[in-house]
Amino acid sequence: MSIFKDAAQKVMQTAIGIAPDRWVPGASPDPMRLKHGLIGAPVSRVDGPLKVQGQARFAAEVPLDNMAYAAIVHSSIARGRIATLDTAKAEAAPGVALVMTYRNAPRMAAPMSFMTAPKASAASNLPVMQDAQVHWNGEAVALVLAQTQEQADYAASLVRVTYDAEPAMVSFGVAKTNARSPASVLGQPASIEKGDAEAALKNAAFRIDLTYRTPRYNHNAIELHAATVAWDGDRLIVHDASQTLNMNAWTLAQVFGLEEKQVSVHSPYVGGGFGGKCLASHQILAAAASKLSGRPVRIALSREGVYRLIGGRTTTEQRVALGAKPDGTLAALIHTGVAAMTAHNDCPEQFTFPARHLYAADAYRIAQEVADMDMVANNFMRAPGESVGTYALECALDELAEAMQLDPIELRRRIEPETDPTSGTAFSSRHLLETYAKGAERFGWGKRSATPGAGREGEWLIGMGCATATYPYLRLPGGAARIRLTADGHATVSTAAHEMGMGTATVQAQHIAERLGLAMEQVTFEYGDTSLPEGSMAGGSSQTASIAGAIIAANEVLVKELLRLAGNDSPLAGLKAEDVEARDGGLYKSGELTRWESYRSILNRARRDEVVVEAQAPMPLEIMKYSMHSYGAQFCEVRVNAVTGETRVSRFLGSFDCGRILNAKTAASQFKGGIIMGLGLALMEDTLFDERSGRIMNPSLAEYHIPVQMDVPEIDVIWTDIPDPHSPLGAHGIGEIGITGVGAAVANAVYNATGKRIRELPITLDKLM
Ligand code: MOS
Repeated sequence: MSIFKDAAQKVMQTAIGIAPDRWVPGASPDPMRLKHGLIGAPVSRVDGPLKVQGQARFAAEVPLDNMAYAAIVHSSIARGRIATLDTAKAEAAPGVALVMTYRNAPRMAAPMSFMTAPKASAASNLPVMQDAQVHWNGEAVALVLAQTQEQADYAASLVRVTYDAEPAMVSFGVAKTNARSPASVLGQPASIEKGDAEAALKNAAFRIDLTYRTPRYNHNAIELHAATVAWDGDRLIVHDASQTLNMNAWTLAQVFGLEEKQVSVHSPYVGGGFGGKCLASHQILAAAASKLSGRPVRIALSREGVYRLIGGRTTTEQRVALGAKPDGTLAALIHTGVAAMTAHNDCPEQFTFPARHLYAADAYRIAQEVADMDMVANNFMRAPGESVGTYALECALDELAEAMQLDPIELRRRIEPETDPTSGTAFSSRHLLETYAKGAERFGWGKRSATPGAGREGEWLIGMGCATATYPYLRLPGGAARIRLTADGHATVSTAAHEMGMGTATVQAQHIAERLGLAMEQVTFEYGDTSLPEGSMAGGSSQTASIAGAIIAANEVLVKELLRLAGNDSPLAGLKAEDVEARDGGLYKSGELTRWESYRSILNRARRDEVVVEAQAPMPLEIMKYSMHSYGAQFCEVRVNAVTGETRVSRFLGSFDCGRILNAKTAASQFKGGIIMGLGLALMEDTLFDERSGRIMNPSLAEYHIPVQMDVPEIDVIWTDIPDPHSPLGAHGIGEIGITGVGAAVANAVYNATGKRIRELPITLDKLM
């Protein structure tokens, strides 16, 4: 994530800023961005058939001989020490192999948390089960291993723990009075000041100055967090549900005092990650229990277990103040606030990121603080920061537009910047206003009345709202790809990448086929295993570009090698890599189709069964030189019941600008999935945190509400498909942008329907009565 950007930036930014494009590796236009064959085609998932047949084996389904099942006992206080532990009854229960507590757990180093080292992937840096200290309500205080899951669960219920509780910080209201400025926010400065924004606000012709609040949100991937773990001598084998394969291997190695290569992580199928499937305590506990018992261990968290051990999106309180001049441009843009965090992680919910690059203003004050609480370490959750940050910023813009009697889309036209407004760097590719124009036309924005409450059908009040969506482009360094091209004209591309249901494997197979001039059936994309060339994590919507960068680099080596093997008797004789292109299972001289030779023929003549090449992606220098982001405009129509306050979303349209779209089918699903998750964020999701005990009170899908079929209207998605000249394949990330702006689009529509501004999520009916 941004730690890499931060480190590399300091060294290279100056040099890069003045370098022409062709000197910037990774920033020269990829010719593939303009191809319209397999790139962009709505290819169905390559892993689809296996999944619907139940043949895809997930982490909790790997069978191992003599395996024991784990169950966890969670602490019931937020802070203090374990006073007494009685495990005797549990140990005597049927089928029990082991009860592990801090007293008998193997000695382990504390895991290194995200951002503290390039490959650190732990959600928190607390030691796991090493002493009597309790740090949050729900922390694991004992683990039971038994012959079956039922026996383990029963025995866990017999463990008796008493505590010496200490005062805990479990109230956000109190914690925020002690908020501190973090050293950085994911590698970026915690605050930016440009001009005197407060003074500009005071003198502005139009002003709004508002506070928005967002609650905790928990992860609810369909697949529960799980791992099946075994030791083979001093080698640790982990079948994990993970979006950070190599990072988990590295971090687990550091916990157990091993070399990274002594840990192998396999994660071919993941049932949703969303930022929550990195390294948490359960994998460490399973490995420790396996070591202690000498048996393979399966740990599969219950839904409640996920709430207790896996952090999600954290509470925020945000101030957005906007000052506008009579011509509708901004004199001041202020976005400040505080997010809850713990002292043992560094995930400050970057809600001020959108305000740093979206709109032009004369003066800026952007600052975010964190408030330390005693709770499970909050973690990444789909568009961390941007999802809740756009709620506040985009609602505030809607309020300002109303105060100015300006259409909200017209307001955005007047404040569209020419360069990144706070950094001054050029945009690589930005077509935000086009997404508004196309979206507005298709959605019928022109039919909206600016007067709240004007639309009514019986007891249903009808309104429309819109908001900007945005998420940064990111490509991570360090990933590699191997291409194995065999004499029968089949290519296998391998990298330790992650397929969590987004379509990674499908899209990269399309990419390889197009780049090598092969049919889909002639390519295999191998991923999900640390024995493959090192991959880059699936996070920050970066994976597609990161893998593509590595494949491009490997393909360059492959073409050179093929031309060398082709020799003097080939129609390709004497050509350089830059002179040739791939098609129909071979290479040809650009512009001269008759000078073509198949891979098969090249390899046969050279008496080779295969060619194998491997290369690393170049450094992501494009992100140093350009301000690179995905954009979108979200349009929402709601119907709010005037009697009950019930809100139904009746129509939704997402209009996106995310560079080249690589697969129309899987991309549409990513956008829609993000929007649906955004409807949950806007209208129903809310982790209820007991401010007396620090315990999450609704750790189940019965009490934590997420959108289901009947809550989701048909969602329309469109995109510009304009390639970014500075990214691999011309693509931007699409995994997270879908959720951004949705909270605001819904809230603005609710206002347009009812005349009520709801400045605290979720927008439940009690707030509308
Ligand atoms: Mo994402 S929250 O980086 O999986």
